[in-house]
Amino acid sequence: MSQSETFFNYRNLITGIDTKIPLKNGKLVPAINFDNAATTPPFNYVMERINSFSPYYSSIHRGNGFKSKLSSDAYEMSRNIICNFVHCNPQKNTVIYVNNTTGAINKLSYIFNSLYRNSIILSTRMEHHSNDLPWRSKFKVDYVEVDELGKLNLSDLKYKLRKHHGRVKLVCVTGASNVTGYKNPIYKIAQIAHRYGAEILVDGAQLVPHYPIYMEQSSKEESIDYLAFSAHKMYAPFGIGVLIGPKSTFSNAPPEYSGGGTIKVVTDDYVLWDDPPGKNEAGTPNVLGVTALVSSIKILNKLSLNSIDKREKSICNYALDKMLQLPNIIIYGDTNPNCDKVAILPFNIKGMHHETTARLLSDLSGISVRSGCFCAHPYVQRLLKLSPEEINYFKTHFNDFRPGIVRLSFGLYNTYDEVDTLIDTLKKITRNIR
Ligand code: ALA
Repeated sequence: MSQSETFFNYRNLITGIDTKIPLKNGKLVPAINFDNAATTPPFNYVMERINSFSPYYSSIHRGNGFKSKLSSDAYEMSRNIICNFVHCNPQKNTVIYVNNTTGAINKLSYIFNSLYRNSIILSTRMEHHSNDLPWRSKFKVDYVEVDELGKLNLSDLKYKLRKHHGRVKLVCVTGASNVTGYKNPIYKIAQIAHRYGAEILVDGAQLVPHYPIYMEQSSKEESIDYLAFSAHKMYAPFGIGVLIGPKSTFSNAPPEYSGGGTIKVVTDDYVLWDDPPGKNEAGTPNVLGVTALVSSIKILNKLSLNSIDKREKSICNYALDKMLQLPNIIIYGDTNPNCDKVAILPFNIKGMHHETTARLLSDLSGISVRSGCFCAHPYVQRLLKLSPEEINYFKTHFNDFRPGIVRLSFGLYNTYDEVDTLIDTLKKITRNIR
């Protein structure tokens, strides 16, 4: 059996897997998507479930009709499925639906702002802007540095926690980087954070679709307090995301958005908030989004995240190995195939702007990648080793061929053959570079 045949069943799971797109010369070829860290295509099963549920779709928590009750029950029962998927304790935690990871972290930042206004937030230099900017606008934020390879510096984490003498309330860290793919040692970070009286939020956007996560650990110290992730990176693109955290946190703070569905009672001069999660889900809930997510989880569980991780890593390492043999390719971060990461490979072609490389991959072979700074500007500035002068220059000249990186990010349905097409295309592009 060839390597690509191994993936046959995986490819059959994906909507639009054989969709042909035009190259620059007009030829039609099957699209190759190496941009799964941005968003994934839907599973066929997700689309089928959306269609089969749609005839029963009705208002959630706002009607006594049969369809409304059925929709409300499906919506409420889904929370246990989510909880099981990330191994959280349903007695202690609440599962709150939001629109995506960004929405989840913004929500938590407002809740923390009501509860712990004068505390310090410790983020990291590796974060997506979504796990940085919502905190910057409300708190004093400090950052854990990364090392030469862009890996998180755990000694600096300890140093920063000590330095702030117990004033750090939350350590915000990504489960896996959307630029390098590095997986952070989240349970160890949780242990360190808890030792210094802080809680931990894991941005799970890039980890949850690719690798099992266990929020509840046998040791309380190593457990994850808050987790955020998005369904659109999990083959379920219907606008749903998840925030999980202790019920007590959300009980103790007013909701950041209020309105329909958030209260037990309102009079002219009185408001009694509902309990979480209802209190934290203002407006009509997105039951189709939830249907998509639980359907996707069913498939991910069936395939098993451990197997998915192995397959994706194998494809990524195949690409890494081939690219290391090409002249004029710069790979960022750790190139050891045993490095603990999800299947993301950041690179550049020497002497070529990242946007040009990305455009040529699409024009010549129908390969989609993302290029730029990936909503993680401070991290990319470090990976590119930009000088303070260069960083300053691009503050005002952001349209001026700003430096960046090209990113390959693999999904469970990508194949070795697709990587071969990538390598052939890179050879063509680099042929004339000296
Ligand atoms: N955060 C997503 C990415 O890295 C959108 O592309």
